[in-house]
Amino acid sequence: MEQKGRIFLILVAMVFHGTESLSDDDGPLVLDYYKEKCPLLEEIVKHNVEVAVFKDPRMAASLLRLHFHDCFVMGCDASVLLDSFGGITSEKQAGPNLNSLRGFEVIDQIKYILEEACPRTVSCADILALAARDSVASRGGPSWDVWLGRRDSLQASFSGANQFIPAPNNSLETLISNFKQQGLDIEDLVALSGSHTIGKARCLSFRQRVYDVNFKGQYEIYDKYRRYTSFRRILQSICPKSGRNNDLAPLDFMTPARFDNHYYVNLLQGKGLLGSDTVLVTQDHEGEILKQVWAYATDEKLFFASFANSMVKMGNINPITGNQGEIRKSCRFVNT
Ligand code: HEM
Ligand SMILES: *[C@@H]1O[C@H](CO)[C@@H](O)[C@H](O)[C@H]1NC(C)=O
Repeated sequence: MEQKGRIFLILVAMVFHGTESLSDDDGPLVLDYYKEKCPLLEEIVKHNVEVAVFKDPRMAASLLRLHFHDCFVMGCDASVLLDSFGGITSEKQAGPNLNSLRGFEVIDQIKYILEEACPRTVSCADILALAARDSVASRGGPSWDVWLGRRDSLQASFSGANQFIPAPNNSLETLISNFKQQGLDIEDLVALSGSHTIGKARCLSFRQRVYDVNFKGQYEIYDKYRRYTSFRRILQSICPKSGRNNDLAPLDFMTPARFDNHYYVNLLQGKGLLGSDTVLVTQDHEGEILKQVWAYATDEKLFFASFANSMVKMGNINPITGNQGEIRKSCRFVNT
């Protein structure tokens, strides 16, 4: 009997483990998590993202970035959405986010509708992952399946937001190790940087790239392109040496509102807006990244496939599942 019981347990364990690995390549998330619990979820998110992007085209970029800034701090757990309250210091106040992150009202709106349709069911972290996907698609980019079942954190990490979100003046080496900490490799770094094919950056974020001669390594490539001078002049006119910190420039000058592969064409012409964009091609001593940039610049389908793949990977960074965390009622506050 005892022997039989043990075998039974082993079988149960195998079956359990079997189904788990069947439904899941990258972690504990699954594709049809809300299929029964909230069948209209994906429709609701998609519709609301489309309305928001119709009203404000930049919103697509802002929602995509929100998911990124969520995932790089304690994993994709909606920690980025929490306001300061009680013992919580909001990540929204951290350097990379302050006066920069946008889209919180859109997430609030989606959450509000979902609380009507399926109360206390859908996590804010999953909303962010879906909204990022639908945002990219809304601007002509690729689409992909989003793995679901993330739960929401009970805390935020102000210090984590300052520490883990990469800065626009990071060296290539720093960017690579920053992504590595999140389980993302160099190919992910190059593909995900392609997000900068949409959206805008503040003067504050690219001033150093325009004026700092200590960023010299970055300038070598520009000498080969005559157009660089005028590009630099344009940037200088938008962003003087001091002041006008919040004035905006498009991250992709050629096709600012379309999710396409022009980001990589820009890089090859020395027209990446941020320091972190330009170092991909100027500090790449092995030449592997340059190859990847060339490949994406000449083959949009290849970029789209890699981008989708890396987005799924990013969306799977340390999700909270099971009994941990909670399903927040309001994305801005933990439940009381
Ligand atoms: C490789 C390291 C990265 C660095 C250093 C970086 C840095 C930045 C900076 C400084 C801005 C402008 C913020 C401002 O001035 O207000 C920005 C904008 C943006 N970033 Fe990144 N980023 C990186 C990677 C990513 C990734 C992985 C994604 C998405 C998966 C992303 C998506 C975006 C988008 C869409 C915008 C425009 C947002 C808007 O217009 O509201 N970035 N990024
Ligand atoms: C990067 O920018 C930050 C914030 O402006 C600044 O404090 C830091 O010194 C810069 N780092 C480098 C290497 O220039």
